[in-house]
Amino acid sequence: MTVTGADELREEVRRRYAESARAASEGSKGSCGGGSCCADGESDAAKFGEALYDAEQRGQLPEAAALASLGCGNPIMVADLHEGETVLDLGSGGGIDVILSAKRVGETGIAFGLDMTDEMLALARANAAEAGVRNTIFLKGVIEEIPLPADSVDVVISNCVINLSTDKPAVLTEIARVLRPGGRIGISDVVAEDRLSAEQRAERGSYVGCIAGALSQGEYEAGLEAAGFEQVSVEFTHEVADGMHGAIVKAVKTSQPELKGLPVVQPAASAGCC
Ligand SMILES: C[S@@+](CC[C@H](N)C(=O)[O-])C[C@H]1O[C@@H](n2cnc3c(N)ncnc32)[C@H](O)[C@@H]1O
Repeated sequence: MTVTGADELREEVRRRYAESARAASEGSKGSCGGGSCCADGESDAAKFGEALYDAEQRGQLPEAAALASLGCGNPIMVADLHEGETVLDLGSGGGIDVILSAKRVGETGIAFGLDMTDEMLALARANAAEAGVRNTIFLKGVIEEIPLPADSVDVVISNCVINLSTDKPAVLTEIARVLRPGGRIGISDVVAEDRLSAEQRAERGSYVGCIAGALSQGEYEAGLEAAGFEQVSVEFTHEVADGMHGAIVKAVKTSQPELKGLPVVQPAASAGCC
């Protein structure tokens, strides 16, 4: 893909999700007007969005946050978050997974949301305020250049966003950079069976609709291993189109980055030293 083509595609994605955020702010389901969001209408209601969260989780959320859900899974169910941890949600949208994470990690932890769309950030901040969680921080930026320091995050989650990236190797490298050694990922995404070519994926749905840009299972595994992850698994959970699935992606950043050729962050010299 040319740089111009990638920039145009990213702008198309941003416009589409800005429209979705506006619809959600006005109280309607976060539909994307043209119907090509991460759900293509009523028939997809069980495959995308709030239906993928259980009643207890939905009970912890303001109605507007649940309605704004555009994900293809439930990363909180797999991330196994603990009190005091730092969590980062890539492409946080209306904030549903950030709010649930903030509740799991408690006041001693922190939940960051990162999104490139101003309208989504405004919606997420309003939803977090309504949910009464104070340990959330929403950052503006792109997932290909995460605006956080190296080794600063315990867990990276994401829900139906990496398929939308025009530079997936950059996203996986950035995840490895911001995670602490031994840090983990719990990601939901649309993933294709290896038998489908890029053209066949594009025949099954649009790029902004989370289908055409999906990696295959093998591509995801290889990409994570190349970025320095171990214990990589990509498991299909439910079919969203012929040969395309909602999937749970798990992996752990090596605890010995130097052996994988990854940059090693040196601890800061203590004050008054030397
Ligand atoms: C399908 S929605 C999912 C939102 C949320 N994760 C959820 O489950 O409801 C995709 C979100 O990712 C954001 N996004 C897409 N590509 C991005 C990128 N390259 N960098 C940052 N945010 C991005 C969009 O603005 C949008 O809010």
